[in-house]
Amino acid sequence: MKYIENKLSLDGVLFNDIYLKYSTPVYVYSQKAIHNNLESYMEKIDDGDLICFSVKSSNNLEILKTISSKGAGFDVVSSGELRKVIHIGADVNKIVYSGVGKTKEDLIFAVKSKIKSINIESLSELKVLVEIVKEIDIVANIALRFNPETSSETHPYLDTGSSGSKFGIPKNEINECLKIIEKQKNINLKGLAFHIGSDIKDFSYFQKALQVMLEKIKYLNIEEHIEFLDVGGGLAIKYFDNDEVLSIQEFVTKVKALVPEKLNLIFEPGKSIIGNAGYLLAKVLYKKSNILLIDAGMNDHIRVPLYNAKHQILPVKKHIFTDQSFKIAGPVCESADIFDHDFHYELDEGELLVIGSSGAYGFSMSSNYNARLRPPEVMISNEKIKLIRRRETFNDFISEEVGLE
Ligand code: LLP
Repeated sequence: MKYIENKLSLDGVLFNDIYLKYSTPVYVYSQKAIHNNLESYMEKIDDGDLICFSVKSSNNLEILKTISSKGAGFDVVSSGELRKVIHIGADVNKIVYSGVGKTKEDLIFAVKSKIKSINIESLSELKVLVEIVKEIDIVANIALRFNPETSSETHPYLDTGSSGSKFGIPKNEINECLKIIEKQKNINLKGLAFHIGSDIKDFSYFQKALQVMLEKIKYLNIEEHIEFLDVGGGLAIKYFDNDEVLSIQEFVTKVKALVPEKLNLIFEPGKSIIGNAGYLLAKVLYKKSNILLIDAGMNDHIRVPLYNAKHQILPVKKHIFTDQSFKIAGPVCESADIFDHDFHYELDEGELLVIGSSGAYGFSMSSNYNARLRPPEVMISNEKIKLIRRRETFNDFISEEVGLE
C-alpha cells in the first residue's frame, strides 16, 4: 500500500477506483502479498514439510484457490471449512483438521475424506473416533494435539497453550491416548501437534513449547513411529511500520534448527499469510466534534473491540498529520464499536480511509449484527480489481428465515 501522487494505492490500483466500482465498506486483498508470504514459508521448508493455511483466518474460495495453487495445504476446524477446501480441489493429503468440539458427524466426514491428519484434542474425542473406525471399518490418520502448558505473552483471548486451556490434550490424558492407539489397527498415529496462540512476537515462547513437545516425543518413545510435528500457527505480524516482529523466513529457520531432521514439520499460518494482504476500505459518514463516524462497523471487523487490537488507519487522500486527536467510530449500536481512539488526520465527511492488516479474521469473523449486510471482497490481481464475493443483499439476509406466511 502506498501513495501515488497523494492517492493511496495497492499494487497499482487506486483505492478510490475500488470505491467507485464497489462502494464501501469493502475488503480488498493483494494477491501478490499472499503469494509473497507463502513463498517466504515455502523457500525455507524442506521436502516433506508442509504449509497448511489456517482457513479460519479467511475462507473465501478464490483466496483458498490462490493459496492451493502455490502448493500449500490447509488447516481446518469445522466440516464447513473442510467442505470449502475440498470444493476448490485441495489435495486431501495436505489437509489437517484441528478443533476441540468435532461432532461424530464431523469426524466421520473427515475420516471418509481421507485427509492427512485429524488432530485429536481430547481422550474423549479419541474414543469417539475409535467407535467410528470400528463401525465403518476405515483407517484414520491422526495426530495428537498436545497442550504444552507453556503460556505466551499475547492477548488472553489469543493464548491457547496455557495450563487449563480448553485446547489440546492435557498432560494427564496423553498416556491413556497412546494406550488406546496401540490397540487400534485402524488408527495410525502420524504425528504430534501443538498451537500456542496467535500474534506471538517473542520466539522464546515457540522455543519453550517446541522443547516440551520434543521431550514428550522422547519420553513417550514414539520418535520412530511418527512422521511429523505440527507446530501450529501464531507468528505475529506488523500492524504498524515500526512494530518489531520476526520475518517468516527467520521464524521458519529458527523452528527448523530446533527440530531433528527426520521429523517433518507442518506449519499452520493464518495471519502471517493473509493478515497484511488485506484491507478494509470505508468512508466517513459524519463528523461529530472529534469523532469520525464511518460506514464500517464492528460487525464487519471485530478485532479492535474484541482483542483491543490496534490497526493502522490511513486516509485514501494524503493528509498531513495533525496534533488534534480523533476517534474513528462505526455505526453499530455499541459503545465498543470504535476502530481508533487516537487518529491524527482530519478527514471530511465523504472521505475514504483504509484499515490495514485486516485480511486475517476480518471478513471471516464478520456478522450481521444490527441487521447489517456483509461487505463484498475484492482481490487485486495483475493490477486488476477482481470481485471475489459480492455484497450481501437483503434477500440473502432473510433467506434462511421461515414461518412468515
Ligand atoms: N492452528 C490452530 C490450531 C489455530 O487454532 C490457529 C488460530 C492457527 C493455526 C492460526 O493462527 P495464526 O497464524 O492466524 O495466528 N481471531 C483471532 C485469532 C484467533 C486464532 C485462533 N487460532 C484474531 O483475530 O487475532
